[in-house]
Amino acid sequence: MCQPIDIYNQRRNRVIPEFQRQIGSFRYSIEECFTNHDTTLANRPKTITSDHFSYGYKNFGFAPYGDLWRTLRRLSTLEVFSSVSLQKNAYIRNEEVSNLCSNLFRLSRDSRRVDLKYQFTLLTAHVMFRLVSGNRGVEESDPESEKRFLDDFKLRFFSSMSMNVCDYFPVLRWIGYKGLEKRVIEMQRMRDEYLQRLIDDIRMKKFDSTGSIVEKFLKLQESEPEFYADDVIKGIVVLMFNGGTDTSPVAMEWAMDGELWEEADVFKPERFEGFAGDRDGFRFLPFGVGRRACPAAGLGMRVVALAVGTLVQCFEWEKVEEGDIDMRPVFGVAMAKAEPLVALSKPWPEMVPILSQL
Ligand code: HEM
Repeated sequence: MCQPIDIYNQRRNRVIPEFQRQIGSFRYSIEECFTNHDTTLANRPKTITSDHFSYGYKNFGFAPYGDLWRTLRRLSTLEVFSSVSLQKNAYIRNEEVSNLCSNLFRLSRDSRRVDLKYQFTLLTAHVMFRLVSGNRGVEESDPESEKRFLDDFKLRFFSSMSMNVCDYFPVLRWIGYKGLEKRVIEMQRMRDEYLQRLIDDIRMKKFDSTGSIVEKFLKLQESEPEFYADDVIKGIVVLMFNGGTDTSPVAMEWAMDGELWEEADVFKPERFEGFAGDRDGFRFLPFGVGRRACPAAGLGMRVVALAVGTLVQCFEWEKVEEGDIDMRPVFGVAMAKAEPLVALSKPWPEMVPILSQL
């Protein structure tokens, strides 16, 4: 008679090869989609949110594949995401990560409990705000002002770009189902007011050479006012605020969970041996692939690696409670953890002299 363990093994032997076969063919399909059929898949579906948030589809994250998309994407890559631009603004990421460590060090005197999701989101919001406008978005750096800044930022820019039920059943859109579209319109009104003020403020300062993205685009506007209209600039700012702050904190939260790695706290560079590039063929696609792949992969990687690396080097991290951390994901544009990651921090003794000087 079969023992339960045998039944388990028999099933496992049947299921795992089948699973591997399916994953294998899935990888093959992805490769096929993003090589031979990439142009066919280079458009995004139109949705209620894209209709209202995209500045008439001039925002290149939503724009249909074509000349406008190509020009804006090329320009943004050049002005914002190129290695040269990223090198020039490295000081912003360094200063903000240093601020984060200093805050955590101060907090660790009162309580060791750290809401990492909140801290990572705040970090990326500051980085994006500085890249876009040249300032942090908040004058004081006390916890209350920071919290107010982030709440306000989230309220305006953390709307999901995802699809809602009306996109699947357009009839619901016609009847104004649950006022969903009205809410999107109101949100866009709030956003637009805020963004216009941000652009006008920078315009009035007559470019004080912060080298910010808005400043760069306003300079281009002087020579070609029709093409670089305010709506195009606002579209790019929304991409930075939305694409930038919705994704990197999520990646950082997952990355702090060492159980994904074998012997995570051991220096073992050979674990990456045999990888074919950063996506290892078509095995990992964190930034997508093909024409619509993330143009900010370099920026995302730099923010995530610097923040996670520094936090691990400066602090010792422990679980708040015994047992496994809840690793369930939640459905969304970026696959976030359902429960925010909260952990106990303690500065490594040898880092205390450095942290106390930040
Ligand atoms: C770890 C961080 C990030 C991850 C994992 C990530 C991931 C992705 C993915 C999967 C896509 C979709 C690719 C597709 O549709 O095939 C995407 C697109 C995009 N991402 Fe990112 N992203 C990150 C950071 C950023 C940042 C920091 C920005 C901006 C500052 C950004 C801006 C964009 C834009 C504009 C697109 C749309 C590109 C287009 O349609 O042409 N992302 N990203």
